[in-house]
Amino acid sequence: MSRRRQIYEGKAKILYEGPEPGTLIQYFKDDATAFNAQKKGTISGKGVLNNRISEHVFTLLGNIGVPTHFIRRLNMREQLIRQVEIIPIEVVVRNVAAGSISKRLGIEEGTQLPRTIIEYYYKDDALGDPMVADEHIACFGWASQEEMHDIADMAIRVNDFLCGLFAGIGIRLVDFKLEFGRLWDNDFSRVILADEISPDGCRLWDMTSGEKLDKDRFRLDLGGEVEAYQEIARRLGLLPEGDTTVLDLEKHRRRRGK
Ligand code: TMP
Repeated sequence: MSRRRQIYEGKAKILYEGPEPGTLIQYFKDDATAFNAQKKGTISGKGVLNNRISEHVFTLLGNIGVPTHFIRRLNMREQLIRQVEIIPIEVVVRNVAAGSISKRLGIEEGTQLPRTIIEYYYKDDALGDPMVADEHIACFGWASQEEMHDIADMAIRVNDFLCGLFAGIGIRLVDFKLEFGRLWDNDFSRVILADEISPDGCRLWDMTSGEKLDKDRFRLDLGGEVEAYQEIARRLGLLPEGDTTVLDLEKHRRRRGK
């Protein structure tokens, strides 16, 4: 499968050298991890769905003027992206209490937050991605003040847009994680949105039933992971009603060893 040079392998994606300088190919795996990779598994078909969902969301964000690394989808599991220098900060945006904030501060899961919260985590698996403040980011030079200003601005714009997008399909956007990268142009760089936006890094609850339609199904052993991701894709209009052709087609191809 890979004649290309592999640049990086993460928990859910692989990056390969792209066809032109300054580009990479982002390959979406079916692997899933949780709790800093203490829990590992596979969600069959997840990569195909995340590739498609992330393509859709990044395209819509591009249309409203949020700069992203996305160029175009190449096939069911791969997309062409701009090569960036990843800023080692995970940006978490929260609208509703769930997950670590509920545990850490004792706020009941599902509590609507009086205002949106942005948190920063230092991207370091060995340290378990610890939460950090702006002060740490500035002190250790992980990002400049100007970059952090742009990041916070973009995170809010992305949140406003995604809240509306998901509300329109009956889904509550509880929280999500973003990553940003520096796009270099000679000696200058600007910050753009990178990584992916998919049910792997978002909490998405059905507005009526409260059902979890995201990676919490895997984290909490609820089952039905792929069906949940498929439901998100379907509601976004990416899969025709009741159609599982994309996944069936891929299974078929795999069987034939292509
Ligand atoms: P948390 O409640 O566990 O801090 O997670 C907040 C959001 O960030 C949730 O939507 C899941 C996402 N997230 C990731 O995408 N990667 C991670 O490593 C973690 C810890 C959270």
